[in-house]
Amino acid sequence: MHDFHYKNGELLCEQVPLSRIVAKYGTPCYVYSNGTITDHFQKLDKALAPVDHTICYAVKANSNLAVLKTVATLGGGFDVVSKGEIERVVAAGGDHNKCIFAGVGKTAREIEFALRLGIYAFNAESEAELERINAIAKRLRKKAPISVRVNPNVDAKTHAKITTGTYENKFGIAFEQVKKIYAKAAKLSNLKIKGVQMHIGSQLTTTDPFEGAVKKLIPLVTDLIKRYKIEFFSIGGGLGIVYDPALESGAASWWKKKEAAKILTPQSYADRLIPLLKPLGIKILVEPGRFIAGNAGALITQVEYIKKTGKKNFVIVDAAMNDLIRPAFYEAHHDIVPVKRKGGSKISSDVVGPICESGDTFCKNRPLPRVKEGDTLALLSAGAYAFVMASNYNTRPMPAEVMVKGKQFTAVRERETPASLWAHEKIPSWLK
Ligand code: LLP
Repeated sequence: MHDFHYKNGELLCEQVPLSRIVAKYGTPCYVYSNGTITDHFQKLDKALAPVDHTICYAVKANSNLAVLKTVATLGGGFDVVSKGEIERVVAAGGDHNKCIFAGVGKTAREIEFALRLGIYAFNAESEAELERINAIAKRLRKKAPISVRVNPNVDAKTHAKITTGTYENKFGIAFEQVKKIYAKAAKLSNLKIKGVQMHIGSQLTTTDPFEGAVKKLIPLVTDLIKRYKIEFFSIGGGLGIVYDPALESGAASWWKKKEAAKILTPQSYADRLIPLLKPLGIKILVEPGRFIAGNAGALITQVEYIKKTGKKNFVIVDAAMNDLIRPAFYEAHHDIVPVKRKGGSKISSDVVGPICESGDTFCKNRPLPRVKEGDTLALLSAGAYAFVMASNYNTRPMPAEVMVKGKQFTAVRERETPASLWAHEKIPSWLK
C-alpha cells in the first residue's frame, strides 16, 4: 500500500496535502504515514496468523518514538541493537520484555542494562559474548535468556553492504559450529537457552533465499527443541519493498507496476515459509524494519536552483546526503516526484544537494518533470534507514519529522536548531 498519492494534481500523504505540511514545518522534512505503518504491520501479522508468532520491529529502520508507539499499540515486539534503542522502546511505551537484543558488539554496560531491565532474549553472536553474558548474569544473580544467531552461509542476493548471512560477513556463528556452541551455553549456569535466530540480509525481493535458509536450519532447530526445549525460532527481517511505486500514470508506470508485482508479499512469504515452520510447534519471530516503515515515509525538499551546464540539468535542492544517505552509500533508487503535479515533457535531470561532494546526488540522468526554483519535491520510500542514518555534516540541522494520520498531522520531531548542534562542545580555557 502507498499512502502518498495525487489528488487534483496535489501530492497527499493520506488526506493531508504535503504543501500544508511544508507551509507549517518547512523543508527539508520527513513525512510518515501512520496508516501505512499500521497496514504493513497488519498485513504481515495476518499472513503469519497460522503460526504462533511475534513481529519484532527492527527499531534501527526508523526509531522515532511515534513510530515505536504505533508498533507497540499494534502489539509488536522490538528487535534492538543498542542500549539506546531499548531506552527508546521504553520511552515510547513499548514492552521491554518483548525486546530481542541483536548485534556483534554488545558492551558489558549494555548487557547489564538489558539484564536488569528484563528483555525477551539476547541474540548472541559469538562464544565470547555468551561467556560475557553469563559472567554478568552471575554477578547480578540472574539467568540471562539467550538464543544464538546462526550464520547459515546463504547468499541473500542483495546489495553487498546489506548481505549478512554468508561466511564473508561478521554476523552470527557458522552453521557447522552452532551445536557445539549450544552445548557450551548449556554448561554456563547463568544462561537460559531460549531460542535460535538467523538474519540473512536486507531488501530481499524474492522468497527463495529465506526458504533456502529456513530449510537449512530446520534439522538444527528440531534438534535444539529436543535437547534444550527452545521456545522460539527467529527468522530475522529482510523483506524487501518496491522503491519504484509508480504514482504517475502512463507507459512507464504500467511497466513499473508489472515489475513491482514480482516482488515478494507478506502472503507469498508466509505461503512459502509456514509449511516449513508450523510443524516445529514453537513460536516464530520475525524482525522486519524496512517492510513496516520504508514506504511509509517521504523526504520533502525544495528546489533552490536550476543549473544547466550544457551537458546536464542540475536540480539543486535543500535536502542533502546528510539527510538521506542511501543514494550516496548504496546507489539506492528513491523515486522523486513533484508535490504539485507537472504536465509537459520530461527532462533528464540530476537532483543534487548543496554539500561539497560529488556523492551528494539523489539521482543521475533521470527523466523528471521540468521543475523550477521554489517548487517542492518528494523523495519517496524514505521511511526506513533514512532519518536514522542522517548526520549533521556541514553543520546542517536534522530535518523535522512529521506524522500523518488521516486528516491529522503533527511534528513528531522538531527541526534541530544550529545552536543545539554545538551544545555539547566547549572551547578549553587555555585556548586564547
Ligand atoms: N534483524 C537484524 C538482525 C538486522 O541486522 C536487520 C537489519 C533487520 C532485522 C531488519 O532488516 P530489514 O527488515 O529492515 O531488511 N541501512 C541499510 C539496511 C541495513 C539493514 C541492517 N540490518 C539500507 O539503507 O538499505
